[in-house]
Amino acid sequence: LSTTEVDVSAIQPGQAIKASFRKQPLFVRNLTPEEINQANSVDAASLRDPQTLAERTKEGKTNWLVTLGVCTHLGCVPLGAGEGENKGPFGGYFCPCHGSAYDTAGRIRSGPAPTNLAVPDYEFSNDTTIVVG
Ligand code: FES
Repeated sequence: LSTTEVDVSAIQPGQAIKASFRKQPLFVRNLTPEEINQANSVDAASLRDPQTLAERTKEGKTNWLVTLGVCTHLGCVPLGAGEGENKGPFGGYFCPCHGSAYDTAGRIRSGPAPTNLAVPDYEFSNDTTIVVG
């Protein structure tokens, strides 16, 4: 299966872009310190799909949230990656199909989706390039 390279150098803190990976939307988000704090201030054990931000990001690069842009309910593309889009009540992503709301770590916080936005296999090949797959 093919890999996808994403240049993240132009993604400012607070911004998310939509790329594509194996024909699926891929979200790459540069979290602000506030968004990181927001994610870390939640007791992960209390969540529907318990995961910490650290478990969903790479060590030393917890500001980079890389997920599939596929709602885990029925597969719509959530809003929140791209300018002016609705990030929803938990500040991450919002699925307009049936109202699933994801937080700044891409974790499901309300609505029908059963699990967090999936984190694909990826690595940084240098400080500004990620290789997904
Ligand atoms: Fe996203 Fe149903 S597909 S809430």
